[in-house]
Amino acid sequence: MIDLILLAAGSGKRMKSSTNKQFLKIDDKPILIHSLEKFYNHKNIDRIILAVKEDEEKYVRYLLDKYGFEGIYLVHGGKERQDSIFNCLNYIKDLGHNLSHNRPSIKSQIISSDKEPALGINEDIHIVLVHDGARPFVSESTIDTCIKETLVHKATCLAVPAKDTIKLADKDLNIVDTPDRKYLWCAQTPQTFDFDLLLRAYENAYTNKLSVTDDASIVEAYCHPVKIIKGNYDNIKITTPEDIGYADYIAQKYK
Ligand code: CTP
Ligand code: MG
Repeated sequence: MIDLILLAAGSGKRMKSSTNKQFLKIDDKPILIHSLEKFYNHKNIDRIILAVKEDEEKYVRYLLDKYGFEGIYLVHGGKERQDSIFNCLNYIKDLGHNLSHNRPSIKSQIISSDKEPALGINEDIHIVLVHDGARPFVSESTIDTCIKETLVHKATCLAVPAKDTIKLADKDLNIVDTPDRKYLWCAQTPQTFDFDLLLRAYENAYTNKLSVTDDASIVEAYCHPVKIIKGNYDNIKITTPEDIGYADYIAQKYK
């Protein structure tokens, strides 16, 4: 079983837009829809769990209908990103391993003859990918690599080598360290895990009141190694207004 948790329950404060950032359009389509279709059309994804804000649920349902997505599970997000993920993990725990009868398997909707067939995953294996809804340019081959590497390592984090020299500073902006750039990576998503491992790591994080900005950190804090998978610089997260122009450029490049 391979599940995707797609996150769209944030407020997009840094975008400073009256429309929540994941609904802004790139190449005439909402960012969230770009992100969603990458996984919906992927042969190896069984279920998609989409975290949304309660007061945006209706609009998201309208968009899913408009763009023809079926069988997506909607879960209300929480205050912070990690709360949204924890809600989704608990939702998946309750769903169990069964594909619901009235919601078709995403996989069963894709009958492709010319593509590599879906991975034959042992029934005992349960993997979950966590992806930002605001990261619309993830590629099919990246998703494949994340899944395959997670079968080996149980915990993986997509990342790109840092291009800039990174400074560690204190609260008064005095530099306290300059880590060697060759060991620095900028984390992206998908971050992909064995489901039980991620759930246990999250439970541990809540018990110990940890606050983090990505899932790899939660697994690191649970003392399980996380393998980096080298990603692509185009897999940007749309965060601030200047990202929109760059996202338009990337969208044209892949057309
Ligand atoms: N996210 C979420 N639930 C939250 C916060 C964030 O599902 N409580 C999601 C966002 O919708 C986004 C992803 O996590 O797709 C990455 O987070 P970020 O880029 O920080 O988005 P926002 O939190 O929406 O933006 P900001 O931090 O600028 O408010
Ligand atoms: Mg945020």
